[in-house]
Amino acid sequence: MRNRTPMIAGNWKMFKTCPEAVNNARTLVSLVSDVDDVEIMIAPPFTALTGVFDVISQSAIHLGAQNLHWEVEGAFTGEISGKMIYSAGCRYVIIGHSERRQYFGEIDERVNRKINAALDAHLLPVICVGESESERESEKTFSVLDKQMQKGVEGLTLDQMGSAVIAYEPVWAIGTGKTATPQQAQEVHEHLRNFLANRFDETTAQNIRILYGGSVKPGNIGELMSLPDIDGALVGGASLDPETFSKIIKYK
Ligand code: PGA
Repeated sequence: MRNRTPMIAGNWKMFKTCPEAVNNARTLVSLVSDVDDVEIMIAPPFTALTGVFDVISQSAIHLGAQNLHWEVEGAFTGEISGKMIYSAGCRYVIIGHSERRQYFGEIDERVNRKINAALDAHLLPVICVGESESERESEKTFSVLDKQMQKGVEGLTLDQMGSAVIAYEPVWAIGTGKTATPQQAQEVHEHLRNFLANRFDETTAQNIRILYGGSVKPGNIGELMSLPDIDGALVGGASLDPETFSKIIKYK
């Protein structure tokens, strides 16, 4: 029996203007006001963080950012630091999302620096890992994930690791409508938990939440959540509409 609190997180990516984001958040607050057994997080774009925080701060919904820079401050035009997003009301920050790895050169070493920066800024990192379609087809899934994990969490203490959330997001399932079968996801989640047990310890591995991400919808969340090592979801497209997202949150 899983004793980890399930978590459903919404990654809004580069969608929603400030008023749209605030309206969305307001609707979501009223739709999920009766939920107390699932932790909810939404990650709007940077520009909407403070506006959304004003709307959700009295609710149980947590705020997350989608990225951060690894330095606290400095001459890094266009970048945002952990201290800044923390001051905007964020509790979580998504790190190493495959879109950042794919389009913005986010290599494992940077993921590691960002995780450290997040922890230094009192933010809880949501660390994303996942294999591409060709890596899965050539049976490299586990070795790719092991490398991403090894380098990503290098140097972390037990306590630091324990405050993180992992998101397994097979790249081929993100925004494509293709979902990993619940069995494929469970197999990877179990593998990741074993990795954590070996690299850290069994207690840490048992306490860490491992979310699944990739075309999660109201129609497939129930089955995913029925599996022992799937502790929640990181939802992209289906988190943009509050009605749909609330159905995922109320998967039970
Ligand atoms: P998706 O995105 O739900 O639209 O597939 C998931 C993600 O990128 O986090």
